[in-house]
Amino acid sequence: MIIIGAGGHAHAVIALWRALGVEPVGLLADSGPAQVMGVPLLGTPARAAELRVQGVTRACIGFADNAARAALGAELAALGFALPAAVHPSAVLMDGARVADGCVVMPRAVLGAAAVLAPFCILNTAAVLEHEGVAGEAAHIAIGAMLAGQVRLGARATVGAGAAVRPRIVIGDDAVVGAGAAVVRDVAPGARVVGVPARPMPR
Ligand SMILES: CC(C)(COP(=O)(O)OP(=O)(O)OC[C@H]1O[C@@H](n2cnc3c(N)ncnc32)[C@H](O)[C@@H]1OP(=O)(O)O)[C@@H](O)C(=O)NCCC(=O)NCCS
Repeated sequence: MIIIGAGGHAHAVIALWRALGVEPVGLLADSGPAQVMGVPLLGTPARAAELRVQGVTRACIGFADNAARAALGAELAALGFALPAAVHPSAVLMDGARVADGCVVMPRAVLGAAAVLAPFCILNTAAVLEHEGVAGEAAHIAIGAMLAGQVRLGARATVGAGAAVRPRIVIGDDAVVGAGAAVVRDVAPGARVVGVPARPMPR
């Protein structure tokens, strides 16, 4: 298992894999310290193909840039890496919940009944995507965010820390919901909303 990234989210991903009994052999990142939590930096992501040939079979993306996570995930899959989902043992997956490849589900997160995470999503610590919710490819539901039932979150969208989203809300692709927001109306693709109730940020 190699981890791509060496920043804050990489720490969480290393700890997640260790909680699952997997010790990453190294990190790939464009820059970073020589090691993160004892896992050595092996070079830039350009070394991935070489490591695959050397017998590394699994990879996990450990950074929070949603668009880059989706793009790199596709590249790694094309190189033949498996990108298994990682679900922390303390997370709760209710009946019918589905977690696609490349996702990370952090401690105490909850994925409600029949809720779905598309590939490369982050369901972060103590976040909730309730029943029948859908998170699009490489979406990020940040720490402590609460998405009520049947919410649809677009590809590469982010819901910030501690935000709350009313049932059945649709949040468009690439949208950003600010930390602590209360989302009571649909959010357009690419929009950034903040506040209680959430309103578009002035440009
Ligand atoms: C919404 C957000 C994307 C805006 O980032 P930004 O463009 O860098 O915004 P700035 O920090 O420059 O702030 C611009 C203004 O918006 C306000 N603002 C920023 N974030 C806000 C938020 N979440 N709620 C209310 N107001 C906010 C700032 O106070 C500032 O107001 P001012 O101009 O009157 O001082 C960001 O603040 C945010 O909330 N990101 C989510 C972070 C997060 O939860 N990450 C997950 C970690 S697991």
